[in-house]
This record gives sequence, structure tokens and C-alpha cells, in this order.
Amino acid sequence: MNLFKIIFLCSLISPTISHYGFDSINPISVKNFTCFRENHGYEFYIGRVYKSIGELDSTVIENIKNARKAGFQFVDGYIFPCLLVPCISIKQQIEETLKWIKEQGGQIGRLWISVQGAELYWTDEKPLNQAIIFEAVKQTEAMGFKVGIYTNSTHWNQIVGNDWNVVAEKPLWLDNWSGNGSFENFVPFGGWKIPTMQQFDVERGTDCGVVINRNWYP
Ligand SMILES: *[C@@H]1O[C@H](CO)[C@@H](O)[C@H](O)[C@H]1NC(C)=O
Ligand SMILES: *[C@@H]1O[C@H](CO)[C@@H](O)[C@H](O)[C@H]1NC(C)=O
Ligand SMILES: *[C@@H]1O[C@H](CO)[C@@H](O)[C@H](O)[C@H]1NC(C)=O
Ligand SMILES: *[C@@H]1O[C@H](CO)[C@@H](O)[C@H](O)[C@H]1NC(C)=O
Repeated sequence: MNLFKIIFLCSLISPTISHYGFDSINPISVKNFTCFRENHGYEFYIGRVYKSIGELDSTVIENIKNARKAGFQFVDGYIFPCLLVPCISIKQQIEETLKWIKEQGGQIGRLWISVQGAELYWTDEKPLNQAIIFEAVKQTEAMGFKVGIYTNSTHWNQIVGNDWNVVAEKPLWLDNWSGNGSFENFVPFGGWKIPTMQQFDVERGTDCGVVINRNWYP
């Protein structure tokens, strides 16, 4: 057997490495982050940088900086678009958020657009919601950032309709609180054939002093 065959066979039998991380809107110190990284092997943090009430999140920006200080290489942000209270346009929300992160000395790898809470946060008009998501994706990329979508099929169906697949080439961060990470029984929607990441557990108390939502990717 030649070397290439051996390498090929090894790649088939080697187990998939899972990566665990968390999101949380609670204040998290450098010490807390160090605890998560060193004692529990968490590799990434995602923080809500913009709230549905149309405000930048001054707690989370500190978390983003603290995560980096504690040695986290992978730090992302997510935006909860503001649609219902008198809000600035989605384009302005993205602009304001990304500029502010930079001004504050924060650094994120990707901005996720949170698409959930149909009754509370979105309009009744699917075409309008679609336009807002499309604009958010476009504006994020125009500013040189990577973008992804946080949702699941229940939220997606209520907010834009499960057939709407215009942003399907962006990574999907799936909200499936099944208690463990797995894409095994994923049912495609919105054009996504497989998620990129899963939020599998929420409001989890920890011995690092902070309540978190747990996430996973293969
Ligand atoms: C989507 O997430 C919500 C919670 O945000 C949950 O109630 C619902 O069951 C989830 N849908 C699916 C298909 O997992
Ligand atoms: C994931 O959770 C389900 C339901 O709680 C359980 O049946 C299954 O064994 C779990 N899988 C793993 C790998 O822990
Ligand atoms: C959520 O995860 C569970 C456990 O892995 C799985 O049985 C279920 O089908 C998943 N749901 C979706 C919508 O992916
Ligand atoms: C987490 O941070 C809080 C306040 O910043 C602190 O009280 C707590 O002891 C910290 N926990 C750990 C494990 O570092």
C-alpha cells in the first residue's frame, strides 16, 4: 500500500474533532474567560453587539476584548436587528455596529445576523423581513466583514418563509437546543443543506462564574 492510500484511509477513520464555544450577554472577565478556555477547553466566544431595542451592547464589547486577552482566537459578534421601535435603517445599524467595534478596540471574525422571535421583533410582512436580512448581509460584506445567519426552521419559516434561500451560501448557526451537538437529523430549509454551527444548550450555569449558551461545530 502506498503512502497516499494510507493517508486516505486514516482520514476516513479518524474521528471528527468537535469544537466547543459559547455565547453569553452576561459580563465576563478575563479570569472567567481563562477559566472557560483552560478548564473546559472552550475555543470560541460569540457576543451580541447590537440589541433589538436599537442599542450597542457596552457589556458585550468588553467581553469581546476580554476574550481576546484571555487567549481566545475565535471571537464573533451577532446583531439582533431593530425593526419595530423607531429604529435607524438596518444599513445604518450594521454600519454603526461595525464602526463602533473597531473604535472600541474590539475584533470580531464574523458578524451573525440573528433571525428569531417573529412575534416580538419582526414585521408581519415576509418580503420586508427578507429585504432587511438581505440588506444586513450586503452591508456587512461591503464593510469587509464575514457574515452568517443565526436561526432555525421554525423562526425562518415564520419570518421569511422556508423557501426563501437567497442567503443560503452564508453559514448557518442553527438554534437547536437538543442538549448536545449533532447535525444528524438536520432537515434542510432556506437552501441550507447543513449547518455550520449549532447552539445546543442554553442558560447553562458553570463553575466559571457565568451563565452561558453552549455551541458546537464539527
Ligand atoms: C427553534 O428554536 C426555538 C427556540 O428559540 C424552539 O422553540 C424551536 O423548537 C426550534 N425549532 C426547531 C425546528 O428546532
Ligand atoms: C444527544 O441527546 C439525545 C437526547 O437528549 C440523546 O438521546 C443522545 O444520546 C445524545 N447524544 C450524545 C452523543 O450525547
Ligand atoms: C436537533 O438535534 C436533535 C439531536 O441531535 C435532532 O434529533 C433533531 O432532529 C435536531 N433538529 C433539527 C431541526 O435539526
Ligand atoms: C467570574 O467573574 C466574576 C466577576 O467578574 C467573579 O466573581 C467570579 O469569581 C469569576 N469566576 C471565575 C471562575 O473566574
